[in-house]
Amino acid sequence: MKTRNFIAFAMAGFFGLAMITSCGGGKTGDQSTTDTTAVKEVAAQPVPTAEQMAMGKTIFETPGKCITCHQATGQGIPNVFPNLVGSKFLLESKVLAVTQVLNGSAKVGNKTVKYPAPMPPQLASKEEAVAVINYVLNSFGNKGGVVTMDDVKDVVVDPR
Ligand code: HEC
Repeated sequence: MKTRNFIAFAMAGFFGLAMITSCGGGKTGDQSTTDTTAVKEVAAQPVPTAEQMAMGKTIFETPGKCITCHQATGQGIPNVFPNLVGSKFLLESKVLAVTQVLNGSAKVGNKTVKYPAPMPPQLASKEEAVAVINYVLNSFGNKGGVVTMDDVKDVVVDPR
């Protein structure tokens, strides 16, 4: 126990220090996701960046968005809102999942279960849709990899 506590303490200290150093680093670090170089780096990651996960979480938990139907657990409500945990559609059709968040499920085929109502369009920004799908791909026990902005470059966002 004692050793474990010490290790946890030491790690927290190290992490804190790393945070301080990286925050003080200004433009030299890779923390900026707004310039194109950083976006390319994000695209090369096998797991989403902390920034992308944070953005996805904020969107997911916004009242009226994903959490309202798919619930805080991501497990939805049986026969009404699908479970996102282990969802074959989500895990195997990442680009379609992003498309569905942008344009709603009515136009996206590939349904194995019939739900009483389609999922309405959620977001108009591809960057946000990619972030929230990366969040659900890597939350609630899912380890679903990543979808990149490049993967969805041919997806057309419906005018609304
Ligand atoms: C108004 C309720 C509602 C909201 C809000 C909502 N969804 Fe859905 N979602 C659904 C329904 C209903 C389906 C099933 C649609 C179908 O099969 O046609 C679905 C299906 C999905 C699927 C496919 C799952 C599967 O196994 O078929 C994913 C992934 C998904 N939603 C993600 C999201 C994300 C991410 C958000 C937030 C950006 C979101 N949903 C917001 C109702 C909702």
